[in-house]
Amino acid sequence: MEIKPLTGSIIQVECDALIVNLFKGVTAPGGATGAVDKALGGLLSELIAQEGFEGKPGQILLVHTQGMLPAKKVIVVGLGEAEKFDTNAARRASAAAARRAREVKAVKVASIIHGAGIGGMDPARSAQATVEGAVIGTYRFLSYKSEPDPHEIQEFLLVEVDESKSTAVRWGAERGRIVGEAVNYARDLVNAPSCKVTPSRLADFGAQIAREGKLDFSALEREDARRLGMGAYLAVAQGTDEPPKFIVLKYTPSTPSEKTVAVIGKGVTFDSGGLSLKDSDSMSTMKDDMAGAAAMLAIMKAVAQLKPTVSVMGISAATENMPSGKAVKPGDIARAMNGKTIEIDNTDAEGRLTLSDALCYAVENGADELIDLATLTGACVVALGREISGAFVNDKKLLSHLMDASEISGDIIWPMPLHDNYKELFSSDIADMKNTGGREAGATTAALLLQEFTSNKPWAHIDIAGPAFYTKENPLTGKGGTGAGVRLLIEYLCGGPSRNT
Ligand code: BES
Ligand code: MN
Ligand code: ZN
Repeated sequence: MEIKPLTGSIIQVECDALIVNLFKGVTAPGGATGAVDKALGGLLSELIAQEGFEGKPGQILLVHTQGMLPAKKVIVVGLGEAEKFDTNAARRASAAAARRAREVKAVKVASIIHGAGIGGMDPARSAQATVEGAVIGTYRFLSYKSEPDPHEIQEFLLVEVDESKSTAVRWGAERGRIVGEAVNYARDLVNAPSCKVTPSRLADFGAQIAREGKLDFSALEREDARRLGMGAYLAVAQGTDEPPKFIVLKYTPSTPSEKTVAVIGKGVTFDSGGLSLKDSDSMSTMKDDMAGAAAMLAIMKAVAQLKPTVSVMGISAATENMPSGKAVKPGDIARAMNGKTIEIDNTDAEGRLTLSDALCYAVENGADELIDLATLTGACVVALGREISGAFVNDKKLLSHLMDASEISGDIIWPMPLHDNYKELFSSDIADMKNTGGREAGATTAALLLQEFTSNKPWAHIDIAGPAFYTKENPLTGKGGTGAGVRLLIEYLCGGPSRNT
């Protein structure tokens, strides 16, 4: 899908489907939708009344223009309540409308910029949200369908009548494309089965991103990790026949930056639980346990294009978690890179083991700030559900910047406690700590364990276990991988100039 910003009147655009919008409860459309209504001789307002179209979020009204407009069809999409309107509503509306346009086999689609007109939103942000919605909303994973639906939207025209907004619109549309494609990139990696997305393949994808985006790249082998003392990571990796890969990408801005942010993604390409084997139901979606690593790669891909002013290091300690004769056993003790020892009580609490060495590596290699994205705990899914990631942050300023990025990007996070007293829940009789802290506050104890490896650097742990993967439909991303964390951290790293200072 090619994105093309266009200055002009929406009623003059020749296309297969024209997308306009309507707030909830509006019966007499104004703005661009009003202009289309007028050109159609009041057909829209008539149908809005007749069909009971309420303008609910994502609701669609489809109209054939019968030659009254150069556009063959008009799609009216509901924006929901005007008072609640934001970039999220714009993103969601655009996704629903673009999906419908494809369903009716439109090849050339034109859309107004949701929010830029009557919505009164910043034109760059509305353009970004509209494009993101269309790109993310029309994503499908068809690699394994032998007879895939061949129909795709080829052109997506973003139409704005006000010429003074055209620079902002072009900029926003470009960002929307970069962010949307990054999200879809992560989703492809999550949706592909674990037999294809092995640690080695993840490393290959990292190398490719580095080549295309002129980033530094390296992948450490099992032996390298051993030399560096990554005992916690290697304990997880010892049960699998797939070679583990410790993946590192690095972006350096052209003007020297004051800080380096490490983005660390959990890269367990399949989590069987190890010897503490999961049951079939819990295991069935565990190809998604590398969603953090997929997000990291997608973020680095976008960073290479958007070129923020900070240095960004992307890291993933990638491995499978498998049972075997060589696998780590409950009761074994591993020593992480910083010398701390961990008694492995449950081999299914493997994410924190891989992440602890990744955090140590980031600190040792000059990271000033640490952000990890991880499908870490079922407890976080119980606490926050499928739409919200848990944010465990040890630094007020970092948390506040991430909350801003969350609101703008619609990639929702919520602050969770790093309550010190709970550290005793994972104390060990014989090692520095155990890798589990019991059922209570399970997401917090996992986060507190990670904190032991951060050397008191500003750090955010984002538990994406809920939002990373959907087995039921989701209005923006449908089923499967969602790219959770991608929009959040691109916005955080590459957002307004006020951030990252
Ligand atoms: N990858 C899982 C967490 C997970 C659960 C992700 C559900 C996505 C959906 C993680 O490695 C895990 O198994 N965690 C255990 C920890 C427990 C053994 C302390 C969990 O949450 O049950
Ligand atoms: Mn596990
Ligand atoms: Zn896991």
